[in-house]
Amino acid sequence: MTQDELKKAVGWAALKYVKPNSIVGVGTGSTVAHFIDALGSIKHQIEGVVSSSDISTAKLKNLGIPVFDCNAVDMLDIYVDSADEINEQKQMIKGGGAALTREKIVAAIADKFVCIIDESKQVSVLGKFPLPVEVIPMARSAVARELVKLGGLPEYRQNVITDNGNEILDVHNLQIVDAIALENTVNCIAGVVSVGLFANRGADVVLVATADGVRVIE
Ligand code: A5P
Repeated sequence: MTQDELKKAVGWAALKYVKPNSIVGVGTGSTVAHFIDALGSIKHQIEGVVSSSDISTAKLKNLGIPVFDCNAVDMLDIYVDSADEINEQKQMIKGGGAALTREKIVAAIADKFVCIIDESKQVSVLGKFPLPVEVIPMARSAVARELVKLGGLPEYRQNVITDNGNEILDVHNLQIVDAIALENTVNCIAGVVSVGLFANRGADVVLVATADGVRVIE
């Protein structure tokens, strides 16, 4: 199976976690794009969604799925999203698609985070994938200096402005053993909007696409 076929298999497998008449939290990325297609096939059975990015919103609206403002929703039953890396504790690096801040917000109001991945995303230690950090533009250099003090090698993601009008630093050279501590530390740097470590709020269920089918880790 190709990687895209694996992403499609796991995107459709997530449908079984969607409850009738619910509002679903929807992530961002190429795996989630398949989940959105799957949601389109049951759009009359759900109330709608809260989206984590402009790109997901456009695809959802295109399929005729109602998209609610996050402020209009108290809580969500589930949030479905992928990850760039995930460890055995279900802690993740996310933000390869620059949507980390909104992804974190929508995940935070969901009761259950359903992470949909192919096997290539599973790691024993987080950090090989450069850690995305969304920063206020005027703070970019100051935040980069603080990230160097933490042992990282921050790289400015050229020509990328987030949906929130901010910039991204991708931090290389990290071996993230204590993900909760690093998430908290980076969150406290002035000028950081959010860090793509999802450790304080990790995934609850992981669906892993393999050549032999979709494996469920709960
Ligand atoms: C988007 O900002 C990310 O957090 C994505 O969830 C992550 O990059 C996984 O994307 P793919 O499904 O495209 O691999």
